[in-house]
Amino acid sequence: MKTVIIHGQNHEGSTCMVARELAHKVGGEVREFFLPRDFDKPCLGCYTCFQTELSHCPHYKELEPLAAAMLEADLLILESPVYVYHATGQMMSFLDHFGTWWVVHRPMPEMSGKQAVAISTAAGSGMKSTVRDMADSLEMWGIRKVYRLGVGVQATRPEEIPDRILETIHRKTDRLAERIRENADRRGCNRRAKMWFFIMRMAHRHFPPAEPDYGYWEKRGWHGKSRPWDAPIYKKREPAAASK
Ligand SMILES: Cc1cc2nc3c(=O)[nH]c(=O)nc-3n(C[C@H](O)[C@H](O)[C@H](O)COP(=O)(O)O)c2cc1C
Repeated sequence: MKTVIIHGQNHEGSTCMVARELAHKVGGEVREFFLPRDFDKPCLGCYTCFQTELSHCPHYKELEPLAAAMLEADLLILESPVYVYHATGQMMSFLDHFGTWWVVHRPMPEMSGKQAVAISTAAGSGMKSTVRDMADSLEMWGIRKVYRLGVGVQATRPEEIPDRILETIHRKTDRLAERIRENADRRGCNRRAKMWFFIMRMAHRHFPPAEPDYGYWEKRGWHGKSRPWDAPIYKKREPAAASK
């Protein structure tokens, strides 16, 4: 199992600790990226990705290693502490760069072979909305199974987390790691993305073609009988995150 963790902050705090504990329990190879250390660009809103392809993004050189690692992974973990009820600004800026991967535009068939987890910790509350900030992208990218894990840690750093909450973290990560291992090596699409796929397919039939999305779907036979989640997994792409 190949796991990629995208940390929504540079420091190794409580959320990082939970994400690493889960990845360790799942086992296999783990790669980690920290935001903003490994990617620090806000989306410019230039629409280049929507109008051409992601590889033409002005930030693609910096984005490519993270995009390629995510495409190759079997398990994606996005984690962020709660900052004023939401994911960190750097996590949201990172996710803004993958609008074209949403199923309503040009979904990547690789996603249907993956599982993902959105993890958040808060001192008290806001985990639900923060986890959702990340799960929205994971689900709309078409990842087969997306899990959500939010923990109220009553702390600002890992050393302060009360023992009973640490036990809850151990128990929840044990259980989740087991589910992830049981669900490995399958293909499919989550229900939300599947519904949006069919809505867009119908829209493509009834409205003038919006390029390059329409051509991307047509080339892959998605206006016919093929589906993104039927395609064989191909791990190597050139360039890694292109969506031609
Ligand atoms: C800027 C900022 C905003 C925060 N906003 C909230 C919040 O809205 N709700 C909350 O319960 N905790 C909030 N916290 C506390 C952190 O979410 C909490 O301590 C978290 O566990 C820290 O995780 P970390 O150790 O991974 O950074 C905030 C902390 C910071 C620095």
